[in-house]
Amino acid sequence: MLNIARSTFVLGAVVSYVSAQSFVSDPLVDKSFPYTAIPYQADTHTDGRGPQSGYNICNSTTENQDSMCQTGFINHLDDFCLFAPPTPNATIGDTEGVEVAWCTKKGHGTRLIPEGTLQGVQLIQSPGYVEIVGFIDQTKLNMQVDDFGGELDSGGQDGRGNPIGGLVYTNAFPSNNGDNSTYQQGRHWTFFIGGGIFCAKICDDTQPNAEGLCQHIYDRVGCAYNAPNNAPNNVFQACQGADMVPVGQYVSNGITTTWTQPPEETAPLGVIPYTPTPAASSNCVTFTSASLYTDLASVGVTSTTANPSATGSGSSGSGSGSGSGTSAASGAQSGAGAASTGTSSNSAGTAMGFSVVSGFFGVLLSAVLFC
Ligand SMILES: *[C@@H]1O[C@H](CO)[C@@H](O)[C@H](O)[C@H]1NC(C)=O
Ligand SMILES: *[C@@H]1O[C@H](CO)[C@@H](O)[C@H](O)[C@H]1NC(C)=O
Ligand SMILES: *[C@@H]1O[C@H](CO)[C@@H](O)[C@H](O)[C@H]1NC(C)=O
Repeated sequence: MLNIARSTFVLGAVVSYVSAQSFVSDPLVDKSFPYTAIPYQADTHTDGRGPQSGYNICNSTTENQDSMCQTGFINHLDDFCLFAPPTPNATIGDTEGVEVAWCTKKGHGTRLIPEGTLQGVQLIQSPGYVEIVGFIDQTKLNMQVDDFGGELDSGGQDGRGNPIGGLVYTNAFPSNNGDNSTYQQGRHWTFFIGGGIFCAKICDDTQPNAEGLCQHIYDRVGCAYNAPNNAPNNVFQACQGADMVPVGQYVSNGITTTWTQPPEETAPLGVIPYTPTPAASSNCVTFTSASLYTDLASVGVTSTTANPSATGSGSSGSGSGSGSGTSAASGAQSGAGAASTGTSSNSAGTAMGFSVVSGFFGVLLSAVLFC
């Protein structure tokens, strides 16, 4: 999650030791793989957090509810994937390195999102990215009901991504010219899931500031800051939009300023000096979920296979958390204590600004519900 090397951090009352792997010399964010030349695994490291748990070549053989495909898509309202745990009743913090792709359509070689998971979804297509946010029943995606989740991205504590080796493609960038059969990789992407919601964003590396629009160093402040939006629940809509202000930037007294999240996860988040405003959106077209997700009717249950690997799970949820003190955060804090990484001592007192796994979706939720 957080893209900084670190050795230990306090999580609730538990001190977690992250295996000493330094930042790799070949970070995932720098790896370009044409869609026609995806390797079996994008990550080839075997030390540190261990080998990549799944694979990136996904096809009809790997298309089932036990798939370990780690190549996702953010194409359109009816065609996208989420990253979520491979085994039941998990937390994102415990499984960030091993998440697998769950998609809305057959044909991607992945698991399918079980029917009833998606409760409201909004797509925003802007010049610089494609963003999808939504409300979910996360228990259908192998997540604990009260997991406030965390951030997944192409960075990660060691540069190998979360999930390790995870790749994301789209057919919706302008350079595709509407050709749905070709896909562009987005090396910069971010994805938050937990607390009953998600936000996924793939940035177009050919456009200015893909890195800023898909910043991945703001993992403690959730969708509210990383993907400010007005998405209503129980609605399925595709919109056009302007690019958001790069994550962390805000204008105060006419001066553009950048707020940087404290890098140390044990440091109080403090008062965030701005409240993000969703970028302008327009031309929203509303659909029924039944018309969008026709492939999902047959998929009712999640997988039950044994955990294939503990790879990547050692970091105890690195850097979700938050508190930020934003309004309505408290409403989302109840029950947050169980959302962490098996550290049951992690209390719900997280709203006060400490980095504890599980806090940040208060912020995220508030943005979705109240902006
Ligand atoms: C299908 O995907 C699997 C897993 O990546 C791979 O081992 C296999 O070679 C692929 N099959 C084809 C025909 O590409
Ligand atoms: C899920 O995990 C939690 C925490 O480990 C546990 O308390 C709960 O009983 C589990 N639920 C199921 C359905 O296994
Ligand atoms: C591409 O996919 C989108 C979304 O599914 C669809 O609206 C559009 O018509 C497709 N374009 C073509 C050329 O098939």
